[in-house]
Amino acid sequence: WKIIHLNEVDSTNEYAKRIAADSPEGTVVVAKRQTAGKGRKGRSWASPEGGLWLSVVFKPPRLDPRFVFVGALAVVDTLVDFGIASGIKWPNDVWAGERKIAGILTEGKGNEYTIMGIGINVNNPIPEELRESATSMFQLLGREVPLEKVLERLLFHLSGWYRVFLERPDLLMAKVREKTFILGRTVRVIRDGRELIGRAMDVLDDGSLLLDAAGQLKRILYGDVSLRL
Ligand code: BTN
Repeated sequence: WKIIHLNEVDSTNEYAKRIAADSPEGTVVVAKRQTAGKGRKGRSWASPEGGLWLSVVFKPPRLDPRFVFVGALAVVDTLVDFGIASGIKWPNDVWAGERKIAGILTEGKGNEYTIMGIGINVNNPIPEELRESATSMFQLLGREVPLEKVLERLLFHLSGWYRVFLERPDLLMAKVREKTFILGRTVRVIRDGRELIGRAMDVLDDGSLLLDAAGQLKRILYGDVSLRL
């Protein structure tokens, strides 16, 4: 890993995209705070000091929608190292105790590079309006956790799961299935502005979500899953 530490940046994903063409795979951009942190679907991501906000430059051999799971599983394993049980909310959130603790945003440019942006709520305060839906390592453990330790564990697990992704995607998907906590639950999926309610049945080998909507099986390739019905 080659780690670039910044105090402040617009978004580590944007920074990583600016340097990706000239940076080797494994370049990591970490910032203490982001002024324009981004979530999926153009949403903003609150990124005050205390959280772990980083982006990694990857140059995977092919574009693959399953790549996001490398990040999700690495976060789940990192949390285990600190005694926190968590699960994947398909496709790219990590939840602990029915609240979101981390999010992943991958952005790619063709076959040139894929940026994996990961945000983990570590010691950062959770804004009042998100208390119902978000949590942090600090909230769950009742103590501050050194950010550099979280980073170290996360990079360790990222390299492990990246190797599994390259060599044994079947094993990656088996683990994703095991960790996807929404399976068996009724969820609401918003896809292209349209809503589908159904039971999440499985994560298929290609990474898509299998939904049983009133007896009709639907394969969801992308979308937003909500547990609030
Ligand atoms: C989501 O849940 O919608 C994804 C959130 C991703 C946030 C991280 S923080 C580091 C990186 N830089 C960004 O601007 N976003 C990602």
